[in-house]
Amino acid sequence: MKPVTIGLLGLGTVGGGTVTVLQRNAGEITRRAGRDIQIRSAAARDLSKQRPFETQGIHLTQDPFEIVNDPKIDIIVELMGGLSPARALVLTALEQGKHVVTANKALIALHGNEIFAKAREKGLMVAFEAAVAGGIPIIKAIREGLAGNTVEWLAGIINGTCNFILTDMREQGRDFSEVLSEAQALGYAEADPTFDIEGIDAAHKLTILASIAFGIPLQFDKVAVEGISAITAADINYAEALGYRIKLLGIARRSARGIELRVHPTLIPERRLIANVNGVMNAVLVKGDAVGPTLYYGAGAGAEPTASSVVADIIDVVRALTSDPENRVPHLAFQAGAIADMPILPMTEIESAYYLRLSAVDQPGVLADVTRILADHHISIEAILQKEPPSGETQLPVIILTHRVIEKDMNAAIAAIGALSTIGGNITRIRVETLG
Ligand code: NAP
Ligand code: HSE
Repeated sequence: MKPVTIGLLGLGTVGGGTVTVLQRNAGEITRRAGRDIQIRSAAARDLSKQRPFETQGIHLTQDPFEIVNDPKIDIIVELMGGLSPARALVLTALEQGKHVVTANKALIALHGNEIFAKAREKGLMVAFEAAVAGGIPIIKAIREGLAGNTVEWLAGIINGTCNFILTDMREQGRDFSEVLSEAQALGYAEADPTFDIEGIDAAHKLTILASIAFGIPLQFDKVAVEGISAITAADINYAEALGYRIKLLGIARRSARGIELRVHPTLIPERRLIANVNGVMNAVLVKGDAVGPTLYYGAGAGAEPTASSVVADIIDVVRALTSDPENRVPHLAFQAGAIADMPILPMTEIESAYYLRLSAVDQPGVLADVTRILADHHISIEAILQKEPPSGETQLPVIILTHRVIEKDMNAAIAAIGALSTIGGNITRIRVETLG
């Protein structure tokens, strides 16, 4: 049988990893797919760049539209990133009757509803396993493996760059920007690394996970997002003294009041497995009503781990080439007509425990004022840690762990505490989740 032909858009970290894995594992891949898979063409911006993989036999071009319009290509693999021209390329590929594989979470989170509608109209597949959690097959696990469950909630470390930085800050105490540069050199970070450190990349991935877990439309604009740029080494150390680790978590939870969609730094008890996921590794905890909690772990970024997911998607598409579109697994796990628009809760309505760090004047009665304000807002305290003021300073750090409270009550309490003349500077607030 004639080989299935691939057009590769992008020859960077993930594109290079995909070429390498397709070439090295060609025999095993053909045994699984039932057909040979051949990269016919690939696009990159700079064709003179030295690449650490073999491109002989692949037609190279700077024009990705030449590839999506080539009638000899069966599957487009989009690994360029960004929204433009990626959106136009994917829509053109579908218009031309080509299946699509992509690792582009921004594209799926923001334009997925439009892309899947076009793919359904044309009876084509759009596969995006590599868009979430790198090499972990989390899309397949939720979409297929957990299909019998009502998913109650999920929580994940879904940005490798942030986890790499937070791990290094805790273990080595290195400077934030130095560790970020290392993550960029290793190919983990996005083209614009503020997407990583400000939580946007994790929010793109959470948008996708929530959609396939709950059968809701992709709605990135409803995710509450806070990144790790305000996390200090002091917070990491205080959290550790209280038995917690700080991780950037993406959390999606369904309740009778609506769905929570949030990304923020989170204190997690160190006894939880997920609190011990370090470096570039990712992990996603999914709680299904039938199966209970399940945990998926693996490399969240990097050339070959991500290529592992891209190539698995290519094989899935090749296997499905002769199948009837109506009998394929739906793009977003639920049948298109059964996607339900459930309300998304505003952040002020979510319930969480909190870590607070304040800077207080070292004099009698200050802590009593703070605890009275918390009590007035129905917030009970789980633990207080009061440190000696650094030498020569009169303000001392006070760390408070609270029980669960509705966020709007915590906002009001923080405003009242901040107005005390004995409290200086900003009050740091980090949410705490036990994930039990
Ligand atoms: P990358 O290393 O920057 O590679 C991007 C590639 O696209 C480069 O080869 C670049 O060409 C090419 N390119 C960009 N714009 C182009 C244009 N207009 N025309 C032709 N070629 C163009 O990015 P990456 O890290 O591989 O990421 C690719 C995608 O995978 C992104 O959506 C990213 O979010 C996603 N992803 C990345 C990882 C990871 O670990 N890196 C993991 C999961 C998902 P040049 O090489 O000539 O510059
Ligand atoms: N920049 C992303 C991360 C790549 O660090 O997780 C993987 O999606």
